[in-house]
Amino acid sequence: MNFQTLARHIIEEERKYPEATGELSSLLHDLSLATKVISLEVNKAGLVDILGFTGDSNVHGEQVKKLDIYAHDMMVKAMDHGGHLCVMASEEEEDIIHIPPHFHIGKYVLLFDPLDGSSNIDANVSIGTIFSIYRRITPDDQVATMEDCLQPGHKQVAAGYVIYGSSTMLVYTAGNGVHGFTLDPAFGEYILSHKKIETPKKSKIYSINEGNYLYWHTGLKKYIKYLQEEDEESGRPYSSRYIGSMVADVHRNLLYGGIFMYPADSRNPNGKLRLMYECNPMAFIIEQAGGKASDGKRRMLDIQPEKLHQRVPIFIGSEDDVKTVEKFMAEEEVKASK
Ligand code: AHG
Ligand code: MN
Ligand code: MN
Repeated sequence: MNFQTLARHIIEEERKYPEATGELSSLLHDLSLATKVISLEVNKAGLVDILGFTGDSNVHGEQVKKLDIYAHDMMVKAMDHGGHLCVMASEEEEDIIHIPPHFHIGKYVLLFDPLDGSSNIDANVSIGTIFSIYRRITPDDQVATMEDCLQPGHKQVAAGYVIYGSSTMLVYTAGNGVHGFTLDPAFGEYILSHKKIETPKKSKIYSINEGNYLYWHTGLKKYIKYLQEEDEESGRPYSSRYIGSMVADVHRNLLYGGIFMYPADSRNPNGKLRLMYECNPMAFIIEQAGGKASDGKRRMLDIQPEKLHQRVPIFIGSEDDVKTVEKFMAEEEVKASK
């Protein structure tokens, strides 16, 4: 049998760098364990009512948590004592999460969206966990601070997501391509299933919540109309695919090619998605797969974050498509300024 587990893959990747200490490998290993537990819980989601887990407590008298809070707690519990982190931050918690001082303090920073697409949980639609890893920048002998968390995306050491879908898959990059692993439910191991994923340069799929059309930028309205027009040479009209779970939408587009957009609009001037937990990790992955990610003007990974829970517009996916939407929006701005 010629298969490679995630654990083996990470070790072999790290061997390529003689200066590596193995710390990142073990951190990714701890993360993969946390997501296996979340995956189990996600798979049981439909049984909650049948097994009597409704209301505020379950049959064991334990407090029943919403799945996104469960996933948040699981991530924190699995990651705080591994010895590799100095601080964490989660979409589900207002402030940064310090590592308790009685645990070993490491050199890495972990930011995560414990459960993305949570409005889809009850409909059995794919959801996911997104993570982003940085090296700390404050001195090792001090308590880590917000400064360690607010680094621009291009400083990421690794990023990835787990998608709980028709199967559970973990996709990650440590700056040397994008690798995908499928969880074998029988023996609970992530197995390499998608080697060095490369996303098509141009696509035929666009993903956006078109219900917000009325509130969009004129340039964006024109772009979407352009995608719907017929033109054989440029492969139009495009297909529209929108799940409403960023992980699932970006994952599909990563494999098939496509552009995913959550723009700013007149009601949400900064869009909806979070720079630190959603946009930066996905941007790192997409760039590593040969794609492009921007806020409509700037490269996503170059944005200097100001706030932990900052929102940012996002245009991410196949390179040519992201360039085209940027062009449509820039043209409109030129017109508006005249
Ligand atoms: P989360 O569940 O972490 O709050 O994220 C939901 C996000 C994202 O997954 C998705 O792309 C977007 O919300 C969908 O938003 P709309 O329902 O406004 O289209
Ligand atoms: Mn999310
Ligand atoms: Mn979330």
